[in-house]
Amino acid sequence: MNNYYITTPIYYVNDKPHIGHAYTSLACDILARFKRLDGFDVHFLTGTDEHGQKVEKSAQAKNINPQEFTDNVSQNFRDLADLMNFSNDDFIRTTENRHKQACQKLWQELEKNGHIYLDKYSGWYSVRDEAYYTESELIDKDGKKLAPTGAEVEWVEEESYFFDLSKWQDKLLKLYDENPDFIAPKSRRNEVISFVKDGLKDLSVSRTAFSWGVKVPNNDKHIMYVWVDALTNYLTTLGYPDEKNKKFEKYWGADLHMVGKDIIRFHAVYWPALLMASGLDLPKRIFAHGWWTNEGEKISKSLGNVIDPVDLVEKYGLDQTRYFLMREISFGNDGDFSRQAMISRTNSDLANDIGNFCQRSLSMVFKNCESIIPNPNLNDGDNEIINNAKQCLETVRLNLDKQEFNKALESIWKIVGQANKYVDDNAPWALKNTDLDRMGTVLYTCGELIRIFGILLQPFIPNSASKMLDLIAIPEEQRTFKNINNSLQSGVKIDKPQVIFPRYVEQDDG
Ligand code: MSP
Repeated sequence: MNNYYITTPIYYVNDKPHIGHAYTSLACDILARFKRLDGFDVHFLTGTDEHGQKVEKSAQAKNINPQEFTDNVSQNFRDLADLMNFSNDDFIRTTENRHKQACQKLWQELEKNGHIYLDKYSGWYSVRDEAYYTESELIDKDGKKLAPTGAEVEWVEEESYFFDLSKWQDKLLKLYDENPDFIAPKSRRNEVISFVKDGLKDLSVSRTAFSWGVKVPNNDKHIMYVWVDALTNYLTTLGYPDEKNKKFEKYWGADLHMVGKDIIRFHAVYWPALLMASGLDLPKRIFAHGWWTNEGEKISKSLGNVIDPVDLVEKYGLDQTRYFLMREISFGNDGDFSRQAMISRTNSDLANDIGNFCQRSLSMVFKNCESIIPNPNLNDGDNEIINNAKQCLETVRLNLDKQEFNKALESIWKIVGQANKYVDDNAPWALKNTDLDRMGTVLYTCGELIRIFGILLQPFIPNSASKMLDLIAIPEEQRTFKNINNSLQSGVKIDKPQVIFPRYVEQDDG
């Protein structure tokens, strides 16, 4: 069996989950679900990144210990996964023992291989970004030095361990060159390559200024740099350091690390270098998606325009939200959330296009065929549209292998459009009085299309897709992709069709 291992970034616990977190994980959930239906053995990982000075400070501000603080906030991310119907196989917390062991083992390997040394660090550090910046990277705002992200920076001087990142420049460039798909999309790949070509400095990988982190083996004055700690989570879930265990053998190196564009450097530069230095295999691909804005504005707490996924789901519905996020923008680009666009996708793509198609054809089966799926006598036109729909699976597969979610949905909706045209052209309501056999065939064809759409849409809108398949009584075990080439069974009784995609009706609250 083919294996597929996909990861989300692990989320900082200094914040409530927002649309950005939901987005990264949703993309992974769709790929994980798609691969499972396509016969892969999948491991889908998400979790929380709980160490670092920022967390220590936030806990202090609340007068609780950091563990209690992280216990509370981490739970919000588990709740988000439930709310959004994410199908992750593991949820990792970096404060777990299994993770500390993995970090320390990785460190020991790096040390054993001669890639870590003790020295002094001095430079600009941003607690908010958990990152160091060089003088030339800083920006000047009203006479104050700030990180390029706008975060405050402080001058830090301390004893620190270093990872010899500078030695990995050529190997990294070779890796990118030999594996053109290693970093996607292309614009990010170019950005990373030019960053590495500019030359790499050794990386400070430990801190002594605070204590909320994983201790460096044999020198517990130091704790590990939060990014070394965080990246290691991708190994921890597989039972590392026990490399002989089944999960590790089966799933490592990851098929895809999904990240936002802001953290591509950590994943596409530091992580492969750390892995090469510790003698481990590399992930196969890193995809960096874009960022959402809200009605054209950058999302930020200070602007008070953070989009809470809980609100979206409550207001528009779960699958409506999932559909919108994946359909609205081309994955990889930045995108804007607008209420108008959300409503329009909900009403036109879901309620009208696919919802009405199911509703009007199955209502006719219910009323005019004694609720029994009719026996068809398919002509070339009927077969053509059915075959088009079946072939759509291959298109969607190719799209998703490139993380082109919006294109995958467009491909499906193209056939949905053809299906609506098919019903209009064949007008089964008129055939009711003239040709009952033909009416049966047309309605059968619609049922067959609902079966195919339902199967194809499961990764994207799992609850609604399964309701579609329930409407035409498709047994659970006939819903995987290999069943797409089967045919809808005639003679099966269906229940009265229920509305699956309700229209969004404007509320008075505006
Ligand atoms: N803890 C690190 C990741 C460590 S992975 C080994 C981190 N966490 S985060 O919580 O700040 O961000 C997690 C993800 O959310 C990132 O991929 C980031 O790009 C994404 N988003 C945060 N805000 C976003 C938007 N406004 N829009 C889309 N995604 C954004 O970074």
